Amino acid sequence: MDTKPSFYITTPIYYVNAEPHLGTAYTTIAADALARYRRMTGHEVFFLTGLDEHGQKIAQAAQAAGMDPQSWVDSIAPKFLDTWRMLEISNDDFIRTTEPRHTRGVQAFWQELYRRGEIYQGHYEGWYCVPDETYWSEEELVDGKCPQCGRDVQFVREDNWFFRLSAYQERLLEFYERREAEGRPFIQPETRRNEVVSFVKGGLKDLSISRTTFSWGVPLPFAPDHVTYVWIDALLNYITALGYGSDDRAKFERFWPADYHFVGKDIIRFHCVIWPAMLMAAGIEPPKTVFAHGFLLAKGEKMSKSKGNVQTPASLVEKFGVDAYRYYFLRDVVFGQDGSISMESMVQRYNGDLANDWGNLVSRLLNMTEKYLGGRTPAAPEHTEEAESELPAIAGALPGRYEAAMQRLDYAAALEATWDLIKAANRYIETQAPWNAAKSGDEVRVAAILYNALEAVRIAALFCAPVMPKTSAEVWRRLGLGDVTAVRDLASEAAWGGLPAGLAVTKGEPLFPRIYEE
Ligand code: ME8
Ligand code: MG
Repeated sequence: MDTKPSFYITTPIYYVNAEPHLGTAYTTIAADALARYRRMTGHEVFFLTGLDEHGQKIAQAAQAAGMDPQSWVDSIAPKFLDTWRMLEISNDDFIRTTEPRHTRGVQAFWQELYRRGEIYQGHYEGWYCVPDETYWSEEELVDGKCPQCGRDVQFVREDNWFFRLSAYQERLLEFYERREAEGRPFIQPETRRNEVVSFVKGGLKDLSISRTTFSWGVPLPFAPDHVTYVWIDALLNYITALGYGSDDRAKFERFWPADYHFVGKDIIRFHCVIWPAMLMAAGIEPPKTVFAHGFLLAKGEKMSKSKGNVQTPASLVEKFGVDAYRYYFLRDVVFGQDGSISMESMVQRYNGDLANDWGNLVSRLLNMTEKYLGGRTPAAPEHTEEAESELPAIAGALPGRYEAAMQRLDYAAALEATWDLIKAANRYIETQAPWNAAKSGDEVRVAAILYNALEAVRIAALFCAPVMPKTSAEVWRRLGLGDVTAVRDLASEAAWGGLPAGLAVTKGEPLFPRIYEE
């Protein structure tokens, strides 16, 4: 019997028309931090990311590069894999929509909808935005351009297959309400929920779900001259990765419905309207929650491939290191809102929170442990004096505060709670001044002070681990402890007093050497 709770979290599958950038990395890092945290709280986690490789936009990108589409997507996929490896992304699977397991699943889905009478043949006339892979009606266009991205649209006139999306208007509204009444809203945050609800109330049209003017997609099993509309193809990755459409349904049974689909606010209609309706049509339960975060803005504009205002993750990782990179985006941007990012604020966060607060605390303590205690962790003090009692109390409150913040997906608050402990430990060292106790030969007192501060460091490293896994692993290693990323019972590990006596600690290079510039 498997008694662990399951936890399934996904990112969008990104288009392979270009390389990974700060925006796609943002969603992926946020999902990774939550996946790591849930592993540490004893969940069996399935964390999925992958690539959206079909459709007209990809076919055009391939053509522009003078390659056939499959060679093109095969040439881009490793860049995503390398970037996610560089960013310490701990995904459990990586799905590409050109894989047979996926195309099989898409076709199984079509058979099911066909059987249930949810799709029909018709004629489509309207506008199409290739960069967004989205259909628009004449009235929706803004000055004849795509209302989403402002780029040119093309007129499409085709015999297509249609999905009866219009039949789901009431069912979707009831569904959103029911989930809200159950206390687990389907769409988060609330502003996005309101936006989707009013869109659905405005009426839904049936959706064209196939194309015939190009062939780079999954053929409909009953009409092989039609390929699947790329968004339908893409959304299905969330279940085909679990084995939907194959003989092995174990993962599907274990992990579906997903706990979280993380997406940017640009693709909320697909995830909150089309996707649950598709699933209802096939008799599958919709996911628990779609969380739509905001846009990263650089100098006030959405950062995007097409705008060209994009820095590469690699250049920032080279400058700041991977953990500082991860920390910055989760600490400085409120998850769910748009957030301005800049080199200045990144340097500030780095020098303030990481170099001064966290890195410095670790260095000082390891140095003093070596200098005053022969490089061995001391035993827990027999009794804690008044002045020393602040740290256990702050550490004791941390797991609850952190969990509450992560329930709201408020990474900034989770990190702030962790920093309350880190800052308190720095203050504690300052006020207790173990160097004075050492001068006066009070060894018992030196050991007591260092024990308390080292114990705070051990616990802080635990709670830093979901966001900064490499640094936390290094801190635990220097303390002579095991692999922090392998912790699976955070609550008991975080209990005050867990630091064993007599461990050999090692000093090391500064964790976050100060950056002097900008
Ligand atoms: O839409 N700020 O792929 P995509 C924050 N293939 N997040 C950003 C961002 C920014 N400036 N730019 C991109 C697709 N993102 C489809 C998805 S899923 C079934 C199919 C992130 O490569 C954000 O998560 O255009 C956004 O939703 C996603 O990248 C879009 O990636
Ligand atoms: Mg996009």
